[in-house]
Amino acid sequence: MEYSFHEESHRVLVVDDEKVIREILSDFLSMEGYVVRTVEDGVEALEALAEGGYNLVITDLKMPRMGGLELLEEINKHAFNVLTVIMTGFGTVETAIEAMKKGAYDYILKPFKVEEVIHIVQRGLEKQRLQQENIQLKESLSIYRMSEALNKTLSIDKILEVIVSTTLKESGADVAALLLQDKNNKQFEVMTRRAKDTQPEGPDQEVLNLVEILEHYRSDRPVIYHGNRANRFFIKVPAGQKPAGFVSVPLKARMEIIGMLNVYSYTKSFKFSEGQRKTLSILADRASSAIDNARLHENLQRTLQQTIQGFARAMEAKDPYTRGHSDRVTLYAAMISKGLGLEPKHHERVCTAALMHDVGKIGIPLDALNKPQKLTREEYEIFKEHPDKGRRILEPIEFLRDIVPAVYHHHEQYDGSGYPLGLKGEDIPLDARILAVADTYDAMTSDRAYRKALSHEIAIAELRRCANTQFDPRIVGVFILEMEKELENRALAEQQENEVEEKKPAESPT
Ligand SMILES: [Fe+2]
Ligand SMILES: [Fe+2]
Repeated sequence: MEYSFHEESHRVLVVDDEKVIREILSDFLSMEGYVVRTVEDGVEALEALAEGGYNLVITDLKMPRMGGLELLEEINKHAFNVLTVIMTGFGTVETAIEAMKKGAYDYILKPFKVEEVIHIVQRGLEKQRLQQENIQLKESLSIYRMSEALNKTLSIDKILEVIVSTTLKESGADVAALLLQDKNNKQFEVMTRRAKDTQPEGPDQEVLNLVEILEHYRSDRPVIYHGNRANRFFIKVPAGQKPAGFVSVPLKARMEIIGMLNVYSYTKSFKFSEGQRKTLSILADRASSAIDNARLHENLQRTLQQTIQGFARAMEAKDPYTRGHSDRVTLYAAMISKGLGLEPKHHERVCTAALMHDVGKIGIPLDALNKPQKLTREEYEIFKEHPDKGRRILEPIEFLRDIVPAVYHHHEQYDGSGYPLGLKGEDIPLDARILAVADTYDAMTSDRAYRKALSHEIAIAELRRCANTQFDPRIVGVFILEMEKELENRALAEQQENEVEEKKPAESPT
């Protein structure tokens, strides 16, 4: 029989084969505001529990069909997440103690005082409430921390690491693993797998029954299984690592399954709860969007890179004398940036600017300018427009806007005698000062329409001579130093190559 139901009331299941006990407990607990249901034995109790929603079970020990101890074992097995209170007569106190060892919350001696029962129920439910609040707090904190960590990165490797280590820590599982579906062959591959320190990490790993897992996902059946029922999700397990519990949640992006987050437990007494599965689902949702974002970002970066390179190629296609110029200037600018110890983002910006620095030449008639004779004043004036043309090409493109200062000012000179604005010293943006050195060195050491390439030594001497007038002396210094290192490395590599050649056995005379 069921009494008044209030949404926030706790639900108690009374299990006893004696009608009078059922009625007494039901009446008194209902008067205390609990929602009470009574059943006659363990079998009926299990049926009621399977429907869910109970907080506490008060059960007699000896009943027909299924007694209290057996019921307790079943409750543990199914992880019903209810407190169990055992009722027992004097003769069976030992059994009650055994029940406590098996996880019963408390026991009541028959004949009992009603107040005593109410007190135990209140105390138990209060404890359960505190525990749940604690779990919820811990879970929301871990989700919050993970989201924070995910917001800080766009690197897929880092994202996977954060997700899997958070999952392992928060679920109490022995192993957590994240699989992603390969876009080409559609196979699910283990991307990151972490095990507790206590778990042996062997070369052998379990083989999952992906068909079964995906089948569950498709039919919206939650994957949370224990004991033998967990086994069907594995095709092969390494010796001695039979999973005792398994939970799997899908990673979805734009309605498509893109991967799965799995946890296993090898500990028989450990049970994953439905709450944990739900938390895992939330983690998986955050993970999915972080992975999706990172992938989009990666794609975008790749497209941008290709666009930039396309630009650079288009520009050089017009001018055979500057073929490879942008790439070499990028190489030299990267060396200077490294020598200056610039931040990765800044380094990236300098390299892009180097690749694009002469983009404005697209807009000027280069054919006329590539001639063996010196440029006329008029022609030189046209040539001098290329930084400004570059600025105008790049400014409307949002993702290239931050390289505009470098491109616009790469022909400024340190003493203020350059163009287009005649900026002086540190007023010239740092990136532009870097480009000026890299650009001039390459111009000097390459063949041009009007002269042959100069040697490295002469070019370096020229840079030195013009430090402080044309160039920022600090950048000239860094470039010379980096260039020396580079040349030393090249010489060393060449020497090693020659040594390998020499060591090869000479051909035997015939
Ligand atoms: Fe230029
Ligand atoms: Fe240039």
